Amino acid sequence: MRLDKFVLRSTQLSKPTVITCIESGEIRVNQDVITDVRYQVHENNYIEYQGKQLVPRPFRYLMFNKPVDTICSNVDGDYPSILHYLEIENKDELHIAGRLDADTTGLVLITDDGRWSFNIMRPEMQCEKTYRVTLAKALIQGTAERFTEGLLLQGESKPTLPAKLENIETESSHDAAHQVLLTISEGRYHQVKRMFFAVGNKVKQLHREKIGNLTVDIPTGAWRYLTIDEVKSLTY
Ligand code: URA
Repeated sequence: MRLDKFVLRSTQLSKPTVITCIESGEIRVNQDVITDVRYQVHENNYIEYQGKQLVPRPFRYLMFNKPVDTICSNVDGDYPSILHYLEIENKDELHIAGRLDADTTGLVLITDDGRWSFNIMRPEMQCEKTYRVTLAKALIQGTAERFTEGLLLQGESKPTLPAKLENIETESSHDAAHQVLLTISEGRYHQVKRMFFAVGNKVKQLHREKIGNLTVDIPTGAWRYLTIDEVKSLTY
């Protein structure tokens, strides 16, 4: 981890103050004064400020059930940031692991552990994400097979990784609700919407139910910390 990040995570100092502290020689790493904010430090280094050892706060891992018309960004845009829903300290240290569109609802993971979130999002790690999708029309025959084989999305040169499509429409579901479950293991830009567009359909509503084995189990707009086992189940 960079020295400035380490100091930020182990004090209540603001980012500009941390930079000033480091550059003015107030931080020692294994007894040497280090003035380069980008200097890489490791867990077993002894890092001192004002004669005391600095110990970083433990990482935090949260799930959030995203409402519609909110954005997965640390700052507000056309809609408010989802971070407004979290009443916790040092929110600026958190980031969102795998964004959803403003009109998509459901499971979002939030953390300050960059390595953990990076691995969840890397397609090579094959972390599955399951979406409940409401479509404008019924599925045309052969869609599931095309999703399994992989589709070439507009403007891209590599086909999508195999995806699993399950039709959950029942006799009793009302006529407008063409619902399916789609499980994908990558996170390309607007991927689900573009996959259905590629087969002549349109996504009307999108809700992420699951990431790996973790299912969203809290009301819309609520959040909770993940358990240690849940964090481990998503550690690649
Ligand atoms: N795919 C989309 O098209 N939108 C999302 O928000 C997530 C996946």
